[in-house]
Amino acid sequence: MQVKKAIILAGGYGTRLSPMTLITNKHLLPIYNKPMIYYPLSTCMLGGIKNYLLISNDKQIYFFKKLFGDGSRLGIKISYKVQKSPLGLPQAISLGNKFINNEPVCINLGDHILFGSGLSDILTRSFSNFYNSKIFIQKTKKPSSYGVINFTKSGSPIKIVEKPKKPKSNFIVTGLYLYTGDVINKIKKLKKSNRNEYEITDLNNIYLKEKKLDYEDLGRGIAWFDAGEPERILEISNFISLIENKQGQMIGCIEEIALRNKFITKRQFLDNIKFYRNSSYADYLKTLI
Ligand code: DAU
Repeated sequence: MQVKKAIILAGGYGTRLSPMTLITNKHLLPIYNKPMIYYPLSTCMLGGIKNYLLISNDKQIYFFKKLFGDGSRLGIKISYKVQKSPLGLPQAISLGNKFINNEPVCINLGDHILFGSGLSDILTRSFSNFYNSKIFIQKTKKPSSYGVINFTKSGSPIKIVEKPKKPKSNFIVTGLYLYTGDVINKIKKLKKSNRNEYEITDLNNIYLKEKKLDYEDLGRGIAWFDAGEPERILEISNFISLIENKQGQMIGCIEEIALRNKFITKRQFLDNIKFYRNSSYADYLKTLI
């Protein structure tokens, strides 16, 4: 089966990034030279997905619409949904009930950046050979801010624990998930956690218990970052700037991916250049044709 649609979550309060997030949405903050949201969108586009639901809050959804419209400038389809109050990731996903329509769906937390050689192979393979729900995991030095995987002695995942004080492994769940079309039914079984939210970890544990959760280690070849804190934003921006300026190639350039994947024609690509007016971003796009 093929995963043909994705939900990008761009709601929440972004509390850890206050005061910036008192006036803007976290996912619109710059990571080096483009809004944060460009990176997760580019990840899904790299994997070939053309149909999107973007979820954000009522005051800020306008800005995403201004950036992407209905997606046609990128040869994709984007619809929008408001999450009135952030009651957790599964609650946000359940707002996409109609959009999911019992079909496989990719969920991407909008504050994540994936980069590395072989990434598009991993994504296209996972999206096109979809069978079970799937999480992408990676080893990290400080796991306790994430969903951490507990393994059996023989190395199979047995349970995921959300932000454990004493993590039992260094493997964490990254912000990219693939779910079967019945995900909404599973979400209905969830109860709120101690922090008064529905937890994506509880959802994953339901799949795990039913032996219906695959996992893939992204390995050391793929860099994975979450941009939830000021220091991370600075570090990631520096990293992206270093790579882009050394290699002369952009990371997370959605128009470049749209052109390469033939989502858009050359003519549409030229219109995109105009959209960015006189900027270094537009100058980069000009070098591609
Ligand atoms: O970073 C990966 C981690 O993401 C996983 O390892 C954890 O298991 C998972 O629970 C999640 O933890 P976070 O604490 O990082 O999730 P956070 O609440 O920051 O939400 C992640 C994104 O989802 C963020 O960009 C805002 C958006 N969001 C969040 C909530 C709670 C929404 O759109 N709606 C929401 O209700």
